Amino acid sequence: MCGIVGYAGEVQAAPVLLSGLEKLEYRGYDSAGMAVYDGEAIRVAKAKGRLQVLREITEDGAQVPGVIGIGHTRWATHGAPSDVNSHPQVSVSGKFAVVHNGIIENYLQLKEKLMKKGVAFVSETDTEVVAQLLEYYYKGDIVDAVIQVLRRVEGSYALGVLCEDAPDQIVAVRKDSPLIVGLGQRENFIASDVPAILSRTRDIYRLNDNEIVILKKDSVQVLNMDLEPVEKQVCHIDWDVSAAEKGGYEHFMAKEIMEQPKAVRDTISPRLRGGRVVFDEISLTAEQLRSFRKIYVVACGSAYHVGVVAKYVLEQNVRIPVEVDVASEFRYRQPILGPDTLVLVISQSGETADTLAALREARRLGAYTLSIVNVVGSTIANESDDVIYTWAGPEIAVATTKAYSTQLAVVYLLTIYLADLLGRLTPQQYADYIAELEALPEKIDAILKNRANIQYLASKFFNVRDVFFIGRNLDYAMSLEGSLKLKEISYIHSDAYAAGELKHGTISLVEDGTLVIALATQRTLFDKMMSNVKEVKTRGAVVLGVTTSLQRQIEKEADYVFYIPDACPMMLPSLSVIPLQLFAYYVSSMKGCDIDKPRNLAKSVTVE
Ligand code: M6R
Repeated sequence: MCGIVGYAGEVQAAPVLLSGLEKLEYRGYDSAGMAVYDGEAIRVAKAKGRLQVLREITEDGAQVPGVIGIGHTRWATHGAPSDVNSHPQVSVSGKFAVVHNGIIENYLQLKEKLMKKGVAFVSETDTEVVAQLLEYYYKGDIVDAVIQVLRRVEGSYALGVLCEDAPDQIVAVRKDSPLIVGLGQRENFIASDVPAILSRTRDIYRLNDNEIVILKKDSVQVLNMDLEPVEKQVCHIDWDVSAAEKGGYEHFMAKEIMEQPKAVRDTISPRLRGGRVVFDEISLTAEQLRSFRKIYVVACGSAYHVGVVAKYVLEQNVRIPVEVDVASEFRYRQPILGPDTLVLVISQSGETADTLAALREARRLGAYTLSIVNVVGSTIANESDDVIYTWAGPEIAVATTKAYSTQLAVVYLLTIYLADLLGRLTPQQYADYIAELEALPEKIDAILKNRANIQYLASKFFNVRDVFFIGRNLDYAMSLEGSLKLKEISYIHSDAYAAGELKHGTISLVEDGTLVIALATQRTLFDKMMSNVKEVKTRGAVVLGVTTSLQRQIEKEADYVFYIPDACPMMLPSLSVIPLQLFAYYVSSMKGCDIDKPRNLAKSVTVE
């Protein structure tokens, strides 16, 4: 989604904005721009395309003088990617420049009203309405004009505003779209995300909805909508800057795949003490747990696929019915929720608009909400009754890998914890689970060491047209993830099916040479899977099987096999996902795709 950077300081703003925007490229965008006050007026430079185009037209920012400015990368929603639709958007006289993330839902009504009053619009964007409204309501006090506008707009926004009449300040505000403030030495920043400012400061404020910031080089004032000062806690970011750099890898995705053993260890280890799972961070009690009639898991994309795993393992071990929902569907289907339901929300970014809306709906209806989130202090984390952080570190590639693996790890930890609270595990089962958890990072590492085999398999199939992933039970959950990984970064059409369901329609798509990736890790379902493999082979499919090293009989049926180490059935998804991620990565690389920033996609989807 769009990215915002704002700077007020002593050095030339444009190069700082450009390098900040570069760090937000991972969010996905199709145009970029900036507005800088040059001592006399606000100067705007913006262009469709990659940031490199903006760099070229401004000579790396050198052609844009001034020490205060706002920058933006736009992911088009209202109006196609074009120079004129890029941000910043300016008001009719050029007095106000605005950058915006989110969507102004009532922009058409507002636009019509302004047009009737003679205001001429130049772009198709919803954001231009904000710039024009600011000028319309401006009577000499910028913050007052901002408040007038906020009273009229509906939707989600993070806004950065520059006004010619107050050339030493940026006014910023957010609602349902992330925005942080960076606190530097004689320089301050606004940004959509930490990497944008990490090279200049590690001290930040995370803004809450409806907080207004007046940012100058020497001061940051945060006000509420009644213009009362708000006390903010400084949050110190302690990641290594290199965590948000490629560190010698060709792509962030490759680096993040390789970081998985560490990320999973960092997520599990602090929660294991004396052979027990300990969650100091959650307040959910055994009594509350006993009162839950149902658990809902709500998430989007890959996080939803973790939810599918959670459904299987929670139901099997905790013995409470679990429903898993795509967040964008959940909130509009009038879910039956109340104090007797636990809603488990999963999100890497903690800012996904649909997931956040589902969480709010769950809270409104009185359910207990527990979130699994990677970004500390994000909105979903802040608004949940309990939060469990995945310690994956910053994930930059659009295709999630290490965050996904850490979410799985939390699901296992939580399953053991909840099952134990309800007395569902024998001491032996409990001890076995702990031993399996402790062994996971090394097993993941062993698969990564064997990655050349997957690279070879990718070289055989990188030019196929369709790929079907099939599996049963947890292997079906992994098929969903394997298929999404492949299509999002390699643009190869792919689908995932519950293997037993093929014969009810889908098998008609299988023809000579169709690649079927058959996941057959679950011991109890292995024979059934082999029958399904036979069915597709009979119709001409080429089958790549993924199974554990104990199930070598697969060689009788599959054309190619990739073996993963054995583990307890519940934790096999953590192992089978690794070859699927690697396969997608290598295929995409062999096809020459933009692996870290696939077309049309954004890292954090902050609009509905
Ligand atoms: O930040 P979130 O985990 O809430 O994001 C959810 C999805 O947008 C995300 O998992 C998406 O599907 C990934 N691109 C998949 O690789």
